[in-house]
Amino acid sequence: MKCRVCSKNIESIMSFGSMPIANGFLSLDKFKNEYFFELNTAFCMNCKMFQLVDQPDPKMMFHDSYAFFSSTSRKMEEYFKNVAEHFMNNYLRNTENAFVIEIGCNDGIMLKHISNRGIKHLGIEPSSNVAEVAKQNGVNAITSFFNEETAAYILESNNHADIIFAANVMCHIPDIHSVARSVNLLLKENGIFVFEDPYLGDVLQKTSYDQIYDEHVYLFSVHSITNAFGLNNLEVFHVEPQLTHGGSMRYYLCRRGSKDINISVTKQLKKEKELGLDKFQTFQKFKLNCEQNKNDLIKLLNKLKEDGKRVVGYAATSKSTTILNYCGIDSSLIEYISDTTPIKYGKFTPGSHIPVKSYEEFKKDKPDYAVLFAWNHSNEIFEKECDFLKNGGNWIVFVPEVKIL
Ligand code: SAM
Ligand code: TMP
Ligand code: ZN
Repeated sequence: MKCRVCSKNIESIMSFGSMPIANGFLSLDKFKNEYFFELNTAFCMNCKMFQLVDQPDPKMMFHDSYAFFSSTSRKMEEYFKNVAEHFMNNYLRNTENAFVIEIGCNDGIMLKHISNRGIKHLGIEPSSNVAEVAKQNGVNAITSFFNEETAAYILESNNHADIIFAANVMCHIPDIHSVARSVNLLLKENGIFVFEDPYLGDVLQKTSYDQIYDEHVYLFSVHSITNAFGLNNLEVFHVEPQLTHGGSMRYYLCRRGSKDINISVTKQLKKEKELGLDKFQTFQKFKLNCEQNKNDLIKLLNKLKEDGKRVVGYAATSKSTTILNYCGIDSSLIEYISDTTPIKYGKFTPGSHIPVKSYEEFKKDKPDYAVLFAWNHSNEIFEKECDFLKNGGNWIVFVPEVKIL
């Protein structure tokens, strides 16, 4: 096996077994032809990149009925408003000549604020259904994958960009070098490339193995990003940990030598060494933790079933696909999962085929237990679900360990 980034030999860490498309919520008639691949992970000792061995064709994951809409979370709405404010206050003072590009803008959750301020912008979004919502929100967007061809197309009718931003997208794109070359084409001499993704350090520390699914072909660290983009003359000049998605890292990159390197970079590199993010043994320990977590969850759900308790799931997240399929959980253990995304209602979870119901049905129902699959949104959810607890309901969580709250 060869590393996707540096082509050196890599070793597998663990396989989570046969997996469907994580966001591939499906109707009953589609069960027969459901697509599966092996979710196998590996680590490169040379460039320190954690990666999937195989990833389905991007067109199978991102298309005209993509099931993830960014704006389903109120807290994420606030978060991306602040991201836009941060850019406008610090990097886009001269609004007249400014140009902002967002890769994977989804429903326009961030760019709509840039658009509202009259700043020139463009979203690149291959999933046409979510791109359509972005356009309805006043965002300029093109339905396309981000690559050199798209970059050349953008330059035909636009100037170079002050900021290229991507949230929870970079880790989806297998060809990092193509991204880097495209960024090099599009960025102003002094422009910045800012992206953020779930952070490898948090996944390892919290055993949040549900961050590993088809879309996430990489889990980044400052080590791996420095190495990967360093090969393409781009330099990390600042990093900022974020609380989103259970622990993320925001990376600020520029053309090599064009900015001073902030102390945050060396500090985080040192922290990563302490966490062992550069060592294979750390991942062997992670594998054991995943196995333990799986056994604990299955044991708990079986026990509750024996006791005659009703257990449902809260939020049919893409992350839940890894949990449900790796642990072999089906509707005999979790009756249904409720979610606020209309496109998912009436469908079934990928692979495990648990019915997905609307949030209203959960509100009416009085299950004994709810497994919190959107644990990364727990603050927002606990705030609004006081009634569930008052009615005698209990939360089951599995990050960082399996427990009843
Ligand atoms: N940025 C939003 C956020 O943080 O909520 C959306 C994140 S969503 C998990 C990933 C988005 O990236 C999807 O809307 C998907 O269609 C888009 N995407 C996937 N591959 C892409 C690519 N190669 N170029 C541009 N966008 C891509
Ligand atoms: P994410 O974990 O990938 O951000 O996906 C969040 C999913 O959780 C999405 O399908 C919407 C759903 N959700 C709810 O059902 N209720 C909620 O309160 C929140 C915040 C999300
Ligand atoms: Zn490598």
